Amino acid sequence: MHSRLRAALLGPILLAWAASADLDVYVDGGLSSGWENWSWNTDLNFAATDLYEGLSSISASSTAWAAVSLKLEGLFNTYAGFQFDIACDPSTLQLYFQGTTDSAQSASIPLSAFPSITSTKFTTVVIDFNALPPNGAPLGSGAWDRLNFQALANGATYHIDNMKFLTSINIEPLFLSAEPIGNDLIAITTQGNVDLSTVKVKLSNATVAISKTTTYSPIDTPSKTITYFTLSKSFAAGSLVITAGTNTSFTYTLPAVRYGTINVSNTKPISPDIYGVNWPTSASYIQHLGVTISRWGGNAVTAYNPFGDFTNAGADWYFENRGSDNADDWLGWVSGAGSKTIMTVPALDWVSKDTTSYSFPKSIYPNQAKFDPYNPDAGNGLLANGSSVSPPPDPTRVYTTWNTTLAKKWLRGLVHKPDIVNIDNEIEIASSTHQDMHPIPINYDEELKRVVDFATAAKEALPNVKVAAPSTCSWWFYWTSVVGWSDNTAHNNMDFLPWFLQQMKAKETATGKRLLDYLDIHYYFQPDTSANDAAAKALRLRMTRSLWDPSYVDESWVSDNPQNHQPNNKAVWLLPRMKQLIDQYYPGTKLSIGEWDSSDDGDVTGGLVTADSLGIFGRYGLDGATYWATPDEKGPVGLAYWLYRGYGTYFGSKSVQVNMADNIDNIFGLYAGVDNGKVSLVFINKSTSPLAFYISNVPTGNYFVRHFGGASGNAKWQTTTKLKANTYTVIPAYTAIFMKQA
Ligand SMILES: *[C@@H]1O[C@H](CO)[C@@H](O)[C@H](O)[C@H]1NC(C)=O
Ligand SMILES: *[C@@H]1O[C@H](CO)[C@@H](O)[C@H](O)[C@H]1NC(C)=O
Ligand SMILES: *[C@@H]1O[C@H](CO)[C@@H](O)[C@H](O)[C@H]1NC(C)=O
Ligand SMILES: *[C@@H]1O[C@H](CO)[C@@H](O)[C@H](O)[C@H]1NC(C)=O
Ligand SMILES: *[C@@H]1O[C@H](CO)[C@@H](O)[C@H](O)[C@H]1NC(C)=O
Ligand SMILES: *[C@@H]1O[C@H](CO)[C@@H](O)[C@H](O)[C@H]1NC(C)=O
Ligand SMILES: *[C@@H]1O[C@H](CO)[C@@H](O)[C@H](O)[C@H]1NC(C)=O
Repeated sequence: MHSRLRAALLGPILLAWAASADLDVYVDGGLSSGWENWSWNTDLNFAATDLYEGLSSISASSTAWAAVSLKLEGLFNTYAGFQFDIACDPSTLQLYFQGTTDSAQSASIPLSAFPSITSTKFTTVVIDFNALPPNGAPLGSGAWDRLNFQALANGATYHIDNMKFLTSINIEPLFLSAEPIGNDLIAITTQGNVDLSTVKVKLSNATVAISKTTTYSPIDTPSKTITYFTLSKSFAAGSLVITAGTNTSFTYTLPAVRYGTINVSNTKPISPDIYGVNWPTSASYIQHLGVTISRWGGNAVTAYNPFGDFTNAGADWYFENRGSDNADDWLGWVSGAGSKTIMTVPALDWVSKDTTSYSFPKSIYPNQAKFDPYNPDAGNGLLANGSSVSPPPDPTRVYTTWNTTLAKKWLRGLVHKPDIVNIDNEIEIASSTHQDMHPIPINYDEELKRVVDFATAAKEALPNVKVAAPSTCSWWFYWTSVVGWSDNTAHNNMDFLPWFLQQMKAKETATGKRLLDYLDIHYYFQPDTSANDAAAKALRLRMTRSLWDPSYVDESWVSDNPQNHQPNNKAVWLLPRMKQLIDQYYPGTKLSIGEWDSSDDGDVTGGLVTADSLGIFGRYGLDGATYWATPDEKGPVGLAYWLYRGYGTYFGSKSVQVNMADNIDNIFGLYAGVDNGKVSLVFINKSTSPLAFYISNVPTGNYFVRHFGGASGNAKWQTTTKLKANTYTVIPAYTAIFMKQA
């Protein structure tokens, strides 16, 4: 049928792909009526018979980021969910929905959220539009008409069968979890229409009456609910058994109490700027997570040309120019949302000249190791053996000149002024990340000169701006340059950062003007936790000790290969070490971490690492930190920000001294704060079983409580409670809890 005629026939019922019956997308042999193939870069067979149910299946083989994409002539908005049978390696594929007319796009659903999927047989998956995996957010509004099974970075080969949209989803009533929290709360998560009156609690075999129940549904995951039962008796060491429904029970051993104390008279200020991120997505993101400061940074801003909004991500994406957001607009909306701002000022000799050019065309350099899957003419500038192609490209192919005059012109003209500027980003490694424009290794002297020149320019253009530099990428380059240890030797045998501080102080002494306000470094935990098994998770959770603990020998190459001249150089001991260097070489300089991450944004242990790190940043007096980058608001890392800062409820502005009787830093973190006499606490149980505490001096009375993790899962759970005693407080396994005096 002619498509316009069909559209006319279907027009009046477009919204009425009415959910009176399930809507098939694929059953056998070909797409069902109303569906179009909008796939890309994928070998597709709609009648595969090598693995199938019924008569055939869809087989697909997609290159990196390619997709089986199917579009409905109409909308599937009225359906309750989407069901399909799939055989694939779940780590290679994601699913998302789109609206082609309004550009709506759903969150991506990684198929790794369904670990039982295998490539050898079909597994049925049901996606509930009220609760998309893995975080349970609803599909949200959009003119939904398209679905995409998209390969991740390594491509994907897979089969799909029996795809359909469902009119309703049968939610089996289930008690999903029940956990002890705090003094006397049982937190119960459920699905479907359960009978809460069946819940019974026994403490050491004695039935305990339930005095109060409160149910809470998180605002942005309304499909999830938690019910808090307040017991008529406080927890104590012994057995805890919660039974519910006809056959569900949850059993815990409540452990012996561990002792600690807080001293509310012993406080130190917490810099509000430690709760920052790189690249927040929106004003509401900033407000929901309480983001205090936002950074425009990373490898893709070194070549940012503000006179045209062009940029180039360098080695991160085939040295291709592209369009960029406008920095002034970004400063405007970010500061308008209540966040301070950090703007990166390019400090090399070139910035992008357009949105289309690239440095290593195949026509000029035919023998490159890799080419952009979306632009087969743009290569990565490397030969198969890893060496750079030669000769180096003419920078004017892609770039136009940049210097301090142009930087001043740009900064002076900004309508929205940044609070802080970074002098470029990780330029010590520009000879690899931006080898097309700066193939020569940057040595100590060049890095210093660029910081001095551009910091001078920035302060001339913006008299109130603070400068943060040199934004060094990692532990190795804190101490030396890409040139190597001969560069240290040529500079009095000094490691790089101490030398840099000394030189910046010498500049101030000579000119009477401070150019460096923040020593800015990037910090990525070095232990390898990529396996993400139980051992890797435990390692991830204890490696936060590298931020503060001189006795923590780093579980990475840092301790295997210590080459710098620093004391105790098998320990990172980051914050005290850097503060000591500052005191020695340039007192009065602040310390900031422009990039850091938890090592796993998707795993609850990454969220606990973030909560622990934020606590440590406050306790050890860090002056600023911005997470790399844009953690999912509803994922574990976003939840850690929400825990401390969400929706206007903040952890104290002063850090309170905490002393624990035993050294349990590998499995536990406790941070205390105070504000206007109100105590706030964050407890982090990094162990796989509950912990219990007697923290003396914690005031009793009413508290606001938030938590994430543990058996209750990742959501913005919260309630209020009356702490009757501080003698036995339970923190469930793998859980972070925030409590603030009401
Ligand atoms: C589906 O569309 C893609 C992209 O246009 C095309 O390459 C492919 O051959 C189509 N497959 C089938 C089976 O129609
Ligand atoms: C609880 O009951 C179990 C089984 O009946 C028994 O073994 C245990 O000793 C009892 N515990 C207490 C604290 O009474
Ligand atoms: C428990 O009860 C539910 C609902 O009646 C049922 O679906 C489930 O299979 C039962 N589980 C066991 C282990 O008996
Ligand atoms: C609490 O801290 C204050 C201020 O540092 C100190 O004077 C006091 O002795 C501390 N109290 C205890 C019990 O350590
Ligand atoms: C890589 O190959 C090029 C060209 O054959 C050669 O000049 C270069 O030395 C090689 N590099 C290494 C590290 O082997
Ligand atoms: C910077 O570049 C501009 C444009 O090419 C040029 O006019 C100016 O003289 C340069 N300034 C310096 C300090 O080199
Ligand atoms: C942390 O969780 C583990 C596992 O549930 C438990 O054994 C331990 O007692 C908990 N710790 C605290 C401090 O609640």
